[in-house]
Amino acid sequence: MVKVFINGYGNIGRRIATAFSQDKEIQFIGVGKYSVDDRVKDAVDRNFPLYVPANMVSKFKEKGFPVSGNISNAIMESDIVIDAAKDGYGYDNKVNLYEPLNKAAIFQGGEDNTGVRKVADVLHNSRVNYKDMFKKKYVIQGSCNVSGMGRILQPMIEKYGSEIERYDVTLIRRSADLEDLKEVKDSIEWDKNPHHQDDVKSFLPMVNLYVEAYKVPSRMMHLHQMTVRFKSAAPDKESFLDTYEKEFGVAILSNARGTGDIRRKAIDLGFEHGDTNMVHIHSDTIRTQDDTLKLLYSDDQTGMVIPENYLLFQSMLYGRPARDAYRRTEAIFHIDKKRKTLEEEFKA
Ligand SMILES: NC(=O)c1ccc[n+]([C@@H]2O[C@H](COP(=O)([O-])OP(=O)(O)OC[C@H]3O[C@@H](n4cnc5c(N)ncnc54)[C@H](OP(=O)(O)O)[C@@H]3O)[C@@H](O)[C@H]2O)c1
Repeated sequence: MVKVFINGYGNIGRRIATAFSQDKEIQFIGVGKYSVDDRVKDAVDRNFPLYVPANMVSKFKEKGFPVSGNISNAIMESDIVIDAAKDGYGYDNKVNLYEPLNKAAIFQGGEDNTGVRKVADVLHNSRVNYKDMFKKKYVIQGSCNVSGMGRILQPMIEKYGSEIERYDVTLIRRSADLEDLKEVKDSIEWDKNPHHQDDVKSFLPMVNLYVEAYKVPSRMMHLHQMTVRFKSAAPDKESFLDTYEKEFGVAILSNARGTGDIRRKAIDLGFEHGDTNMVHIHSDTIRTQDDTLKLLYSDDQTGMVIPENYLLFQSMLYGRPARDAYRRTEAIFHIDKKRKTLEEEFKA
């Protein structure tokens, strides 16, 4: 049985733990926690074995938390670590823990794939390079925006290919997640050099893509405005939407008014962690004129990368055919069912 440890129990780590702890074919070692705060209780209440840095064991115990051991021991016991650390900490974890103990690891999108602090050479996107991840030791799961762009671009590339001249995407990013305690800053902030463009180009090198990114004071998902320029007339809306009819994790909604509508609906419907795990194409925003097609889609920032991590794990560890991996992912995340429900809730 493959042994898996989740290092980090923040917004992403706790969701990954929920998913992996449901997989009966793996041995779930537990979660790594670094600060004594309310999230510890959350992990304990959910019966996740708790591992903490060796020098923190007594602090956690003093507060009455049941500590299963220290983080180094948990890593030693594992076959693979899913690193869910704060942006940039994954590099230190790799150098100090995973490499010395010769352990494979999946990193999150806040880590670098180039430069002195790179943790891996490759970024995974299940729709683009799933099967290339087999037997890789270190891989980054692309961030939520990067995963969402891959999910939208790849089907378009397969259908229209060289008929497309270029893609321009403006990312309107949420400032914080729902669970974050930090204040949302009342400002619209720009990004002089969005990493998302290079990240997508790392797995879709031929794509003529230009990305701008802005952060807005919201906790409710990201919104992407994509402009696709064709070499001749753009396709009509119906045939464009057909491209996504059978796509995993792409919902087509026709009357949502904003990202908050979808997030609140996901919470009201009792979706795990209030996540849809999808991108949502807003079909009522699609416009075509001459050679240009414009669309909006929203991207579930916290939920998007969780099934992606699970798919990546299927490729790295077992080299499972994509169809089998998607079937297993569906059994845990129920994405098809959630998609149908959302499409019904937001139909015109
Ligand atoms: N949030 C999103 O929407 C989102 C979406 C896609 C990808 N990501 C990426 O996912 C990663 C995690 O983001 P997040 O939003 O979950 O951050 P987060 O909520 O701030 O959680 C980060 C976690 O890292 C833990 N930590 C601290 N030092 C650590 C160490 N040395 N090793 C491992 N964990 C350590 C923290 O523990 P303590 O709290 O105990 O100190 C905390 O639980 C980042 O790379 C981020 O870019 C985030």
